[in-house]
Amino acid sequence: MQNDAPTQRRNAADLAKNFDLLSLPEDFYDSPFPYYQALQEHSPVKQLSDGSFFLTHYADLIGIYKNTTLFSSDKKTQFKPKFGDSPLYQHHTSSLVFNDPPLHTRVRSILNGALVPKAINAMKPGLTTLVDELIFKMKGKNQVDLITDFASAIPIEIIGNLLGIPHSERAPLRDWSLAILGALEPVTSDSAADWGNQSVQSFLAYLAELTERRRSQPGDPEHDVLTRLIQGEADGVKLSEKELLHNCIFLLNAGHETTTNLIGSALVTLHDNPAQRQRLIEQPGLIKTAVEEVLRMESPNQLGNRMATESVQIGGCSIPARSNIHLCIGAANRDPSTFMEPQHFDISRSPNRHLAFASGAHNCIGNTLARLEASIAISGFITHFPDYQLVHRPVRASRARFRGFLSIPCQLNPSVP
Ligand code: HEM
Repeated sequence: MQNDAPTQRRNAADLAKNFDLLSLPEDFYDSPFPYYQALQEHSPVKQLSDGSFFLTHYADLIGIYKNTTLFSSDKKTQFKPKFGDSPLYQHHTSSLVFNDPPLHTRVRSILNGALVPKAINAMKPGLTTLVDELIFKMKGKNQVDLITDFASAIPIEIIGNLLGIPHSERAPLRDWSLAILGALEPVTSDSAADWGNQSVQSFLAYLAELTERRRSQPGDPEHDVLTRLIQGEADGVKLSEKELLHNCIFLLNAGHETTTNLIGSALVTLHDNPAQRQRLIEQPGLIKTAVEEVLRMESPNQLGNRMATESVQIGGCSIPARSNIHLCIGAANRDPSTFMEPQHFDISRSPNRHLAFASGAHNCIGNTLARLEASIAISGFITHFPDYQLVHRPVRASRARFRGFLSIPCQLNPSVP
């Protein structure tokens, strides 16, 4: 047998040397993992052609997440040249995730109260009914698209309920969300930027009207996040109108595409690993660790960013002040120094301290909700359709930052013609 280890090593060195987020090869979108592995091995702090740095080691990401003084989330410097003075710039620089204190603290404290475990537990019965209804509808079809008929329908309903958006007004939300988040890709075409800018404007106009209605007829702030955001905290912390509208957009976007992608990726990964799927069918109690394993291996949010506020040394490299740093969550979650057999999909993996929801001050506020949605959706699906088969390869969204599928054609009961 031929020993191809030296060739693989040379290829890995080449992959790492030529890697650039600004000109990614086509095969990266389907599987970025050989690139991540090569970078981890040969260039874990890699400088890219625009001067930014791409980091792939778990320990380096943790260190950055924990130090909000040295590593800022404020994106004004980075987004000005990318978006100009556009609606996309206004939006992304007003949302809490791309800000440091004081805006970050103010918005986070208001949102946090609405997403406490008690509030999320109260959503469980509604979520179970929703999943049951979607399953019932699919039963009449046999061939379905797991994204449109199932995965995307769940978060849009949940986040729509959180903000009290009437059902008849939800139709455009998914497209607006895809357009606004799509503009965050490392390279944005003019048409993608136009679509993103139009979507911010349409979204703002819609929310201004919805907010007006809610002001005249407030909901219960215990459950209605929009009323909560309008009223602010009891101690007087309030948001300006601009902060309010942009953070509603952010919340809708943050909780929507990521959770859709988690559910879709879980069903594809279980399909591609039949022994693990069978294990989950036989031991439904593994659903929690199974969801964690999908979060680790197929992290819906593959990249985060921070800006160095001072010059700093990481992994023996000097990073100048004001550098843009890409935190590669997808790579860190397969870092062999943290995870045993990191490329192996094991639905009972424990411990599993992945960074799919980041870590530190900006860690995901919606993580408990996303975990609950995914657990109920995936359990319900495989209980009713244990033999589901993908009809052909699912269609991937060609995105580096958000990992998931646009469409997953699937036959629910292959034994039924
Ligand atoms: C599988 C689903 C999800 C994934 C993978 C995910 C991932 C993330 C990550 C990685 C961050 C940190 C970003 C950074 O600091 O660079 C984040 C922040 C955030 N997420 Fe999620 N998220 C998910 C679902 C949700 C849901 C369902 C909601 C709301 C209901 C939500 C709301 C937020 C908010 C508000 C922040 C900003 C927190 C802050 O800046 O302090 N996310 N999310």
